Amino acid sequence: MNFKEELQAKTEQAEETLKQYLPEEKGYQKTVLSAMNYSVLAGGKRLRPILMKETYEMFGGSGRVVEPFMVAIEMIHNYSLVHDDLPCMDNDEYRRGRKTTHVVYGEGMAVLAGDALLNYAFETAALAFELPEVQEDVSLLKAVGKAMGILAVKAGVYGMIGGQTADVEAEEFPPEKVTEDLLLFIHEHKTAALIQNAMMIGAVLAGASPEETAKIEKIAYNIGIAFQIQDDILDVTSTLEVLGKPVGSDEKNHKVTYVTLNGLKKSEEEVKRLSEEAMKELGSFGKRNLFLEKLVEDLITREK
Ligand code: IPE
Ligand code: IPE
Ligand code: MG
Ligand code: MG
Ligand code: MG
Repeated sequence: MNFKEELQAKTEQAEETLKQYLPEEKGYQKTVLSAMNYSVLAGGKRLRPILMKETYEMFGGSGRVVEPFMVAIEMIHNYSLVHDDLPCMDNDEYRRGRKTTHVVYGEGMAVLAGDALLNYAFETAALAFELPEVQEDVSLLKAVGKAMGILAVKAGVYGMIGGQTADVEAEEFPPEKVTEDLLLFIHEHKTAALIQNAMMIGAVLAGASPEETAKIEKIAYNIGIAFQIQDDILDVTSTLEVLGKPVGSDEKNHKVTYVTLNGLKKSEEEVKRLSEEAMKELGSFGKRNLFLEKLVEDLITREK
């Protein structure tokens, strides 16, 4: 299998795992359940669950304990997108080639579907405690506890929500107030934090040491910053058809991005530099995962 085929197969696997844990659409709360499933099942790259599993395997993990966490991180990511697209945030009507959740279900239901996905992520992750292999192994039990903590912190006010806060606020700032430093804070938190979340959990569940996990955190930081710069580039250079979401969203919302600060060329160079740094660091562990390294390289030229 070449890289593209392997990536396709792993994306489908992640999708299958996700489907096993999605809620049934029934009961008086049926509407919010179908809004949740609508947003999660719209496709998407499934990058965070894939990064989690590949990091888990890189450190020798081979069990099922990673699966509830793969689902949890994708649910948190999807909740962040449902809320990010709301009229009170980025006000976007397309995501992954379909109408956004609030357009189809209304704003109230979209807020609730986001809330529900966030909560359901923790309900799902907590299922890892029930697995017999976890019950029987104290060190794995501790690792699951630690992973729950990472899941919470990196998604919260010191992680993704903190980044979204600064991002929304900066829209109202005069351009000179949006410094490179503030922009890095925004990118680190709104985007890199969930990538760190995914990769650190993969490492911890596989029994990586605190030093190894700290190194993964740094690598995921570089991957995450590169990922958001590329997202900002595509917001300028792509099309709705290719990207599946509206282009020009950042300009519409008066966002200062890496591209508006530094131009396209420097932005592209920075994506490459950060990604290559991450690849080099990934290659420096005793245990390597060549697919993971290739995936990071592939993200440099991603078109969606
Ligand atoms: C979009 O994330 C939000 C950002 C952090 C830029 P993705 O580009 O991973 O979105 P999907 O899941 O593939 O749609
Ligand atoms: C969003 O960044 C990051 C999130 C935490 C949702 P963007 O607002 O640039 O993401 P897109 O372009 O809408 O996917
Ligand atoms: Mg946004
Ligand atoms: Mg947005
Ligand atoms: Mg964007």
